[in-house]
Amino acid sequence: ENNRIAIAIDGPAAAGKSTVAKIVAQKLTYIYIDTGAMYRALTLKATNESVALDDETSLARLLNNTTIELKQSDEGQRVLLDGEDVTLSIRSQLVTNNVSYVAKHPEIRQEMVARQQALANKRGVVMDGRDIGTHVLPDAEVKIFLIASVEERAKRRHEENILKGFSSDLEELKKEIEQRDLIDSKRDVAPLIKAEDAIEIDTTSLSIDEVAQKILSEVYQKME
Ligand code: CDP
Ligand code: CDP
Repeated sequence: ENNRIAIAIDGPAAAGKSTVAKIVAQKLTYIYIDTGAMYRALTLKATNESVALDDETSLARLLNNTTIELKQSDEGQRVLLDGEDVTLSIRSQLVTNNVSYVAKHPEIRQEMVARQQALANKRGVVMDGRDIGTHVLPDAEVKIFLIASVEERAKRRHEENILKGFSSDLEELKKEIEQRDLIDSKRDVAPLIKAEDAIEIDTTSLSIDEVAQKILSEVYQKME
């Protein structure tokens, strides 16, 4: 079809980007691309191989020798790092606490953006991250910027952890989220910022379905 569009969803940690992006993609039968998973996969490899996270040149070399695949399966998206399934391990506390230090390097971002643009080369895509509307897909027909209070976002991650049977500390989560938001927002290259033409949705007191419906109504409007 030629009315397929690109949808960019950006915002801070745990605002609900990936949850609603998946729903929107499923509804439209679009592909979903989780760009954060790509930065997480590189961070996992760097920590496994003891590459210093402030060594941009070594990280860039590492990335050039790394394949990262996002596979859509029945159980959701799987992330493959050099062919190995790392879907779960890229969500570890260690990776979460380190990923923003990897993602702030210009050379790393340049390569990641090129890979992401290649993945989205056809329309019919929902992509979430921090710089999708501003850098990766500046021509996206629909741009969404999701926000929520840090208390609510920490609470969501906390409940998610408990549901999965992981140990979880609400205050720790709040600190981690605030720290990551700060690094992501203050970096020199492609910081977390709302694109001028993005629609901001505060999800603090909205359900997942309400957020998905709001985005879908923007999408249907564009398709008319
Ligand atoms: O899911 P969560 O919000 O915890 O994070 P994520 O989307 O998996 O992204 C992890 C980290 O990758 C972010 O905190 C950013 O440092 C980085 N990232 C980025 O710089 N640009 C993107 N387009 C996506 C993620
Ligand atoms: O991708 P991002 O880091 O922005 O957030 P996420 O991984 O989708 O996590 C958001 C968490 O908040 C999930 O556990 C959702 O079930 C929950 N949630 C939401 O996404 N949206 C709401 N409006 C309410 C709750």
